[in-house]
Amino acid sequence: MENIFDQLIDSYLIHHVGISDHFLSDKLAGSLKDNLNELYSIGNLTSARIGNDENAGVNKLVRSDKIFWLDKSHEDKFEDAFFLLIDEFILHLNSTCFTGITGYEFHYAFYEAGSFYKRHIDQFNSNKDRAFTVIFYLNENWVYADGGQLCVHFEDTMQLIAPLNGRCIFFKSSELEHEVLLTMKPRLSITGWLKTNLV
Ligand code: OGA
Ligand code: MN
Repeated sequence: MENIFDQLIDSYLIHHVGISDHFLSDKLAGSLKDNLNELYSIGNLTSARIGNDENAGVNKLVRSDKIFWLDKSHEDKFEDAFFLLIDEFILHLNSTCFTGITGYEFHYAFYEAGSFYKRHIDQFNSNKDRAFTVIFYLNENWVYADGGQLCVHFEDTMQLIAPLNGRCIFFKSSELEHEVLLTMKPRLSITGWLKTNLV
């Protein structure tokens, strides 16, 4: 995995947004996708919220995805395999880049057809714990006409990234404005944040 981790970090250092296409094996991506489809079909997902203060809440004009937080207490073997991979990545990141990551949080995200997430930044004003954003896509056979691209804004450039199966995206949470363009098909992913204890 070290090569894949280095590839992700190197592409982040060069382009501000790191992309690695084989971070998740097809098998693990498929199992996590099955988990998410199951959570969706039994109605366990909740509408995602924006913000973390007294104004926080659901605003479907800003984002219309549905989420579910992964947790070690679920004792789900695929979530556990995912967390092991993240632990390994953090060890590598901290030892090669002195990033001081001490924790993380991840949620599944399900964008039904017609969903989107308008341009935003992931770090909250009142809480700077989120150091890096990491996103994993769980969509087989995605084509351009399916929409749902991640659009990353940097200075006056814009980059469209397709949510392809197994692909991992990595960027600094305080730095990059980004949005999820309207998706024409259900769009599945896991999104999370690597955190520091800095205030
Ligand atoms: C987010 C987000 C992007 C994506 O959940 O904060 O920006 O491509 N997700 O799913
Ligand atoms: Mn975001």
